[in-house]
This record gives sequence, C-alpha cells and structure tokens, in this order.
Amino acid sequence: MHTPRRKSPLGPPPESSVTVAKLAASYVRKGGNLPIFVVVVTISVFALVMYSEDIKAIAGYSLSRYKTQDDAPDAFSGVNLRHQTQHGSSNRSTPGQQPQTKNEKPGKGPGPPAGAEMAAVSVPDTCDLSRGEWVFDDVNYPLYREDQCQFLSEQMSCLRNGRREVMYQKWRWQPKGCSLPKFDPRLLLERLRGKRMMFVGDSMNRNQWESLVCLLQTVTPPEKRSRRVDGSRSIFTVEDYDASIEFYWAPFLVESNSDDPNIHTIDVRIIKAESIEKHAVQWKGADVLVFNTYIWWMNTRKIKVLRPGAKNWTHTDDVERWDAYETVLRTLSKWLDRNMDPNRSSVFFMSMSPLHIKSSDWGNPNGIKCAKETLPIKNMTGVSVGTDMNLFALAKKVTGSTARVPVTFIDITAMSEYRKDAHTSVYTVRQGALLTPEQQAKPAEFADCIHWCLPGLPDTWNQVLFTRLLSARPRH
Ligand SMILES: *[C@@H]1O[C@H](CO)[C@@H](O)[C@H](O)[C@H]1NC(C)=O
Ligand SMILES: *[C@@H]1O[C@H](CO)[C@@H](O)[C@H](O)[C@H]1NC(C)=O
Ligand SMILES: *[C@@H]1O[C@H](CO)[C@@H](O)[C@H](O)[C@H]1NC(C)=O
Ligand SMILES: *[C@@H]1O[C@H](CO)[C@@H](O)[C@H](O)[C@H]1NC(C)=O
Repeated sequence: MHTPRRKSPLGPPPESSVTVAKLAASYVRKGGNLPIFVVVVTISVFALVMYSEDIKAIAGYSLSRYKTQDDAPDAFSGVNLRHQTQHGSSNRSTPGQQPQTKNEKPGKGPGPPAGAEMAAVSVPDTCDLSRGEWVFDDVNYPLYREDQCQFLSEQMSCLRNGRREVMYQKWRWQPKGCSLPKFDPRLLLERLRGKRMMFVGDSMNRNQWESLVCLLQTVTPPEKRSRRVDGSRSIFTVEDYDASIEFYWAPFLVESNSDDPNIHTIDVRIIKAESIEKHAVQWKGADVLVFNTYIWWMNTRKIKVLRPGAKNWTHTDDVERWDAYETVLRTLSKWLDRNMDPNRSSVFFMSMSPLHIKSSDWGNPNGIKCAKETLPIKNMTGVSVGTDMNLFALAKKVTGSTARVPVTFIDITAMSEYRKDAHTSVYTVRQGALLTPEQQAKPAEFADCIHWCLPGLPDTWNQVLFTRLLSARPRH
C-alpha cells in the first residue's frame, strides 16, 4: 500500500510579502522622532535584508511536492546493520519470522509504560546532552545511506541533487562528560509496538520525521512498511510492530490561516492563539508526541492574532511575537494537561532549529550564506547565528510548567548552531522542481540555509530523542 508518488507537500515553511519598504512604511506611519527612526530603520533594514532573503528561500519550498525516492532501488537487503540490537535476537527480521507478540498489549495488563521493561538506554543524570562538540567519525556515520532511504523526499536528498562532498554526514555529537547512546532502531520499534508516535509542527519537524523514517527503515523489510498522506498527516507504518510514526502539519500548533498542508501562498500570517482543538483532536491518544514551532514566527516581529470572538479572519491585533508565542504554548500546555494521560503518553518539545544566513556571523566575509560551507563552526564562543533565544527561553519555561503532563524539552539548538555545513543549500527543490544549474549557480538567491540534508544533523536530534524516550523512568 505505498502512497502514490508526487503527493502534495507537507508543510513547507512560510512565504511572506513583507518587504523592507513595507516595514519602513509602517515605521513612518507610526511617526515619531526622526533621528531615532533613521537609526531604527537602518538596523531593521539590515536585519530584514537577512530575513527577507531567508524568507524568500523558505518561500520557494511552499509548493514543493513531496517527492520521494520510491523509484530508487530499494536496498534493504544491502543494508549494513551497524547497530546490532543489544538483545541477542538480532537476526534481521524477515517476513514470517517476526516475533509473534503483535497486539498482545492488552493481555499484559496495566503497568508501567513499555519503556520501563527495557531501560537499555541510559545516560547519567548529570550529563547535559546539549553541550559538547562535533567529532569527525566516518566509521559510525552516516547511520544510513541516502539512496537506501526509500521514503526520503527529494528536498533533503542532497547528494542526489548534486552535492559532491559528504563530510556533512560524518559527524558524531560528543556531549561533554558522557556519550550519546547509539541509535538502535529495533529497540525503538519495540518501544513503539502497537503505538502511535506523532511529530507535530513545521517543516523542521517534518525534516526530523523523515530522518526517523529513514533510521527505522534500515531494519524494516520493504513489504512491511508503507507511507501515505492523509490531509495534514504523513503516516509511516511498520506492520510487524503495528507501529505508526506520523507527522502532522501545524506550523503554529494552534489554528492559523496557514494550516493547509499544500497551499501557503498567503501574504499575512494570522493565528488563533487560543484555538488548538481543531488540530489537537488528531493527536489525542497518541503515545508519543513531539512538538516544535519556530521558523514561521521569524518572518516579522509582530504577528497578527485573531481577536477573541472574531467572526472572520479580518479582526486581528498585531502582537509582539514573544507574547503571542507564549500564549500559544500556554494554550498547548493547558490542552495537554486536560487531555493527555501522563501514565500512557510521553511528550517532547524540540527547541529551535537555527538558520545560517549570514556568513560573517562565523567570520567568513567571503561566504555566501551557508552555501560554501563544508565544515561545522569550530568554536562558537562569541558567535551568534541569530537564533531568537527569547523564544527558546519561553519555550523552555512554558513547556516546563505543565501541571499534570510532563513535557521533555529537548535542546537541539546549541549543537545545531555549529552546523553551517549541514543545510540543503542549493541541493534541493523549489516549487516542486529541482533547482536548475542556473539557480544552483546563484546561492545568494537560492540557497536554503534552513532545512537540513539527510542523512545528517536531524539524525542526531533523533538520537537524542531516542535516548530521552528510552531512558525515561516510568512515572509513579
Ligand atoms: C542467526 O542466524 C545465524 C545464521 O543464520 C544462526 O546460526 C543463529 O542461530 C541465528 N540466531 C538467532 C538468535 O536466531
Ligand atoms: C469580515 O469582517 C470585515 C470587517 O469587519 C467585514 O467587512 C466583512 O463583511 C466580514 N466578512 C464576513 C464574511 O463576515
Ligand atoms: C497513573 O498511575 C498512578 C499509579 O498507578 C495512578 O495512581 C494514577 O491515578 C494514574 N493516573 C491517571 C491519570 O490514570
Ligand atoms: C574559542 O574562542 C574563544 C574566544 O575567541 C577562546 O577564548 C577559546 O580559547 C576558544 N576555544 C577553543 C577550544 O579554541
């Protein structure tokens, strides 16, 4: 039951019609002290040049079709299983040889979440996985090969799209003071047996979902896995484990005028900061939830929020994005507390995925965005790539303040800020089509320094997620 190819895209990031001129005009309209205005505009124009390029780059992906590698020869049989399971029963699953435990969950009665029985993954409590360094490791990485991932979208298939060097695939994250446990796809599938895992958010979360699908399919025979698209959901299923790993498009988490997974040609983004039910009914009952929301907030400093009780999408207020972001995350937290069962579900929030738009940020005045970068930043001391750390702090605070349902905040920001080398750059698609050689030759205009090549950085995010999920102690 393979999903027909060329299904519509899921969630590309935003487009915006915000221009420097428009913004300047709005400053002018507001009047005020002229000299200050000039300074403000000068600074803003600079910032906006960076952003609007960025936004242009993002916009290009709005219409990209979700093309996968279904055509590529499936190389399941050739997969080099580096990650033998730790449980001995490690012979590769073949149809008919699966453990016959499917659907036996109800018979096992109540008790702690399945993870408890197999806390095979552990890291010391004192170890902060978000701090460390990238170490070149071409023995253990990449964790799969690009051409072996059947469902990988064209957007992330950098080598296939012409990228020549592959160093970006071969870095291992080495936290200070401990090691990141190996990603064990069978262990994760065992944890997800009979369960539903959902990524909810924007295209960065989809990037991570795709990575996880690739990581899991290394141990899944082709006839036992499938991927389909159902409205805002992309669903990957693994038959032998009765598991589904899904992505749900909701770039602001709450309701917005950008919720259509296919059509994003919208000039002005509007959110309903306190309405989440319409999306949330789709997540209710999921066993593992992984949220994110970031990139769409970065278009403008203020965002349009629909007034309470508004009858249509025209009654809005311009709200500082930090305030609106906090409101949205409070809406999410309240919903989680009221609707999720903390004994059954695990909830995660992924922190901000950084952009690398301005090469002078990392001391390369001759660079062009991220386009010429082949190595991670060596030393982040004193380097800022422009991540909105206010949003980071808010997300950490609000997701940490739920009353009943714990949310694990996963910091991928610091480790990702090093990775100027890991973006899709010009080796990607725009409006459904691979960039042409002419477009590839103009990275200043066409490089995507937002999304990430796969295999690549998001595999490490999943390694951290895997670690947190499998090392969690049962609550109560
Ligand atoms: C795995 O396969 C090998 C060779 O095919 C066999 O000798 C061994 O007994 C198998 N191990 C298990 C646990 O099934
Ligand atoms: C939406 O609100 C605007 C502004 O008040 C109004 O002019 C318009 O008629 C409304 N549209 C609908 C369909 O209610
Ligand atoms: C969770 O489990 C604990 C201990 O088994 C129990 O006391 C509590 O009522 C459960 N909570 C819910 C929401 O089911
Ligand atoms: C990183 O840079 C800072 C400031 O430039 C310097 O003090 C520090 O020693 C550097 N660290 C390493 C590991 O090179």
